[in-house]
Amino acid sequence: MTSRPAPFFIAALLILWCAMAAFATSNGAWLTNVSQRERERVNPYRDQPDAVAAGRRIFLDHCAHCHGQDAEGTKKRPSLKSSRVQHEATDGDLHWLLVNGNRSQGMPSWVKLGDPQIWQVICYVKSLH
Ligand code: HEC
Repeated sequence: MTSRPAPFFIAALLILWCAMAAFATSNGAWLTNVSQRERERVNPYRDQPDAVAAGRRIFLDHCAHCHGQDAEGTKKRPSLKSSRVQHEATDGDLHWLLVNGNRSQGMPSWVKLGDPQIWQVICYVKSLH
């Protein structure tokens, strides 16, 4: 009889795990992984109109097929016009996400673009509010 509770225990764990996985979808949990130092990084391209235009091209080349041409999001990919991306997240937070990605949730790393391009695409994203 001692082995009896095991299946129930496993079922309970599975349900919990599914609930956590569902909760983890685009809930901004990645923000909690960003260190204070990364969060406070200043975008060297801030307030440069050229950077927004350059960032837009990068966005259309690399991001639009997931996040939509106008960044409104697609089926399972979040809008980048949300208050989380526009207000809650700093440029430093977005830089951290673009460098590290959030692969378990389907967001690739963009470290291969290089830092200037990453900051430029952030200028574009932040220009959308
Ligand atoms: C393969 C599809 C895909 C591509 C390409 C992609 N993303 Fe994402 N992105 C995602 C997914 C899925 C998420 C949601 C991750 C999560 O749930 O935390 C995400 C999340 C984000 C977020 C955070 C949104 C939020 O609400 O927390 C930002 C900002 C972002 N992406 C920007 C970009 C930029 C900029 C590019 C291009 C350099 C890009 N993404 C390319 C799939 C993609």
